Amino acid sequence: MLDELTLYTDKSTILRDITPVTVVVGGFFGDEGKGKVVSYLGLKDRPSAAVRTGSINAGHTVSFNGRVWKLRVVPSAFLWRSCRLYVPAGALISIQTFLSEVRETECNGRIFVDFNTGVITEEHVARENADELMKSIGSTRQGVGAAGSDRVMRRLKLAKDYDVLRDYLRDVALEVNDYVDRGESVLIEGTQGFYLSLYFGTYPYVTSRDTSASGVLSEVGLGPKKVDDVLVVFKSYVTRVGEGPLPNELSPTDVEKLGFSERASVTGRIRRAAPFNLELARKAVIINSATQIALTKIDALFKDAYNVREWGKLPPNARAWIDDVENVLKVPITLIGTGEDVMAIVDRRQDVFGSLKR
Ligand code: IMP
Ligand code: MG
Repeated sequence: MLDELTLYTDKSTILRDITPVTVVVGGFFGDEGKGKVVSYLGLKDRPSAAVRTGSINAGHTVSFNGRVWKLRVVPSAFLWRSCRLYVPAGALISIQTFLSEVRETECNGRIFVDFNTGVITEEHVARENADELMKSIGSTRQGVGAAGSDRVMRRLKLAKDYDVLRDYLRDVALEVNDYVDRGESVLIEGTQGFYLSLYFGTYPYVTSRDTSASGVLSEVGLGPKKVDDVLVVFKSYVTRVGEGPLPNELSPTDVEKLGFSERASVTGRIRRAAPFNLELARKAVIINSATQIALTKIDALFKDAYNVREWGKLPPNARAWIDDVENVLKVPITLIGTGEDVMAIVDRRQDVFGSLKR
């Protein structure tokens, strides 16, 4: 089954020379559609290696040819069969989630975990469930913050401490740097969104790590000079799960009316929603040092955009809206999501950058 899926390629449009090392991050509060964007880049650019950062509080959804995966550990680029998949030192995994996702994605033999990756246990989950503050900030209570704090206090067990992970263990930081130094293409998958960053977000209504591009690279062990592209993903409207400020938040009735209703992929909670926010986007672009922007779910704003795959075929009002956003943010909007399937994307990279080489 998977072989069939991953045999999908269109040799004439391989774009790997454009983006040798790319980091993809969320620009709002998570759930911008990073999973879809990363899995698209996996199939289209055929990276040699893909790294997924963060932890199991973040769910990335990959829909391809009618199948859906909701991933919390395995990199969303798994669809590209020749890609080596990595979980870095800065990530935190649950062994059970890791092993079950390896089975679901049939990636055994090409997925590796850093010796130093942190391991979340039931005790961490229990601690968060008993913690009133975690309840009041609307934590997903997957044990991520508790495990992270144990790591800071140097009492967390790491992947190398668990026999069951022995066959997966590698020095991921060195291996990823080797790919980069050989000039091969590497895709780094950030998780959650910029405004959930422990440093730059709406503290204390944030997650337990820095979700910015720099924080994501630090989890991998990749220095900032080794990255060619920082792709910031925005959805065409803003959503947030859990508590904390959401500027211009819409009433549940308006959320429904506008077609912005969503449910969180990890907790199943209803997502709060607000219109696209240029001010938030502007700061995210600056602090992440964005070189490209992906704008997802444009079909929620412009119904005729659904499943369109060419810029010229988007409705004129959608193109005008995207142009306006681009003019304010001053960063090219290169990928535009038009539907849930991985391939429902308008890819403007060749138009924007001209040739394959920059
Ligand atoms: P925690 O990181 O699970 O403790 O949750 C802290 C806050 O971040 C809560 O408001 C969560 O809903 C939010 N959050 C954590 N991970 C994600 C994510 O992947 N997407 C969206 N929100 C998230
Ligand atoms: Mg999500």
